Amino acid sequence: MSEHKPKTMGQQLGRRSWAEPWKIKMVEPIRMISRSEREKAIQEAGYNTFLLRSEDVYIDLLTDSGTSAMSDRQWAGLMLGDEAYAGSRNFYHLEEMVQRYYGYKYLVPTHQGRGAEHLISQSVIKQGQYIPGNMYFTTTRLHQEIAGGTFVDVIIDEAHDPYNEHPFKGNIDLAKLEALIDRVGAENIAFVSLAGTVNMAGGQPVSMANVKALRALCDRYGIKIYLDATRMAENSFFIQEREEGYADKPIAEILKEFCGYTDGAWMSAKKDNLVNIGGWVAVNDEKLFDKLRNMVVIYEGLHTYGGMAGRDMEALAIGISEMVEDDHIASRVNQVRYLGDLLMAWNIPVVRPIGGHAVFLDARGFYPHIPQDQFPAQMLAAQLYVDSGVRAMERGIVSAGRDPQTGDHRYPKLELVRLTISRRVYTQAHMDVTAESVMAVYDSRQQTRGLRMVYEPEYLRFFQARFEPL
Ligand code: F0G
Repeated sequence: MSEHKPKTMGQQLGRRSWAEPWKIKMVEPIRMISRSEREKAIQEAGYNTFLLRSEDVYIDLLTDSGTSAMSDRQWAGLMLGDEAYAGSRNFYHLEEMVQRYYGYKYLVPTHQGRGAEHLISQSVIKQGQYIPGNMYFTTTRLHQEIAGGTFVDVIIDEAHDPYNEHPFKGNIDLAKLEALIDRVGAENIAFVSLAGTVNMAGGQPVSMANVKALRALCDRYGIKIYLDATRMAENSFFIQEREEGYADKPIAEILKEFCGYTDGAWMSAKKDNLVNIGGWVAVNDEKLFDKLRNMVVIYEGLHTYGGMAGRDMEALAIGISEMVEDDHIASRVNQVRYLGDLLMAWNIPVVRPIGGHAVFLDARGFYPHIPQDQFPAQMLAAQLYVDSGVRAMERGIVSAGRDPQTGDHRYPKLELVRLTISRRVYTQAHMDVTAESVMAVYDSRQQTRGLRMVYEPEYLRFFQARFEPL
């Protein structure tokens, strides 16, 4: 009998689609300016997409930072702001949400992630110490260096190969870490700087098995682990999807288990936490908390607001509870994957597997004829903007900056352009338009030449550097 049953439409198509667990209540108009206007705009911006005006951008994939759409509940939360200088009730709500979902005991709010990085770096790094981590992040490493430390990359080798399909390319190579400990001594390691997911590697996750093994290793040497939790909800999704034993566990449970292997975390709330501004640092050690809480009043604000308005903390507290909903995080990561799958189907060189927050184009695959010190990824981002008004970001030699010892460029293995997807902002049609523009730029790749840097700021040069075509 059953073999005569007609196939459902889904079976005939061989697929079953997912959809966003929300509908749109308010819209923000966007427009595409003409090609000649775009050419003028990118020239005036010194071929740096950070220097474009947002009004001249059609689809903005510069970053997922602070660009999320808030929910109706978060907007309602803004009206409940308690703007008391001290002891705002929104702070206590935020503290409760961080304790409940991340599991750390003590919370210090900051204005955004780098505020938190500053506090923790200054509090725990002693001059001359090393900070091993799973690939650098721009602001994180700079704060560690300013505090007198040296960052050492101990990520697995697979992470530096854009085409390696390892499911947990964010993992720490424990042998590399142990070799560093042997070489410099455990007392000269400030802490392990662990990020989930790894932004510069393509939004790649760390497995639960890896953090467990890391904990065991660090316990043997008495080394602390601090987590960059900026995109840890996305990391938890990959654990649920790929790691044995986690398929039936909710995101919230996975997140808390993972954080439980670490001693504290810093956070850019502008990503996972679904707000436009905010950050925090949270730890389990009371003495360290004391230090952080004392320091926050110098640089950020009182310890019950840390640079945020009461209303911002309320939206953030609500954002944390929405972040851990399984269908939210699944649709968020699957939208990124939708764009990545389109590009892979067209044989466009992208970092694999597709990560949690962005699709990364491999600029070396586009422009093998442009040497790295002629900034191929910078040029690719500019070309994409000129083609369609889509704004992306360079994540290659410009972002990597200069070696503080030698003054020479750092030459990262990955020379990438990041198409970063904001949370709950764009539709699948925007992804289609983006993919087709990438295809057009890929088709014209042979004619493209490199760039020359004509202005270079001292710190985090990618934000403000200027270029001219060769
Ligand atoms: N850590 C990670 C992993 C980040 O991606 C960022 C910011 C920060 C820390 C710093 O946080 O911006 O709130 O001060 N990343 C943004 C990006 C800028 O576009 O990837 P922040």
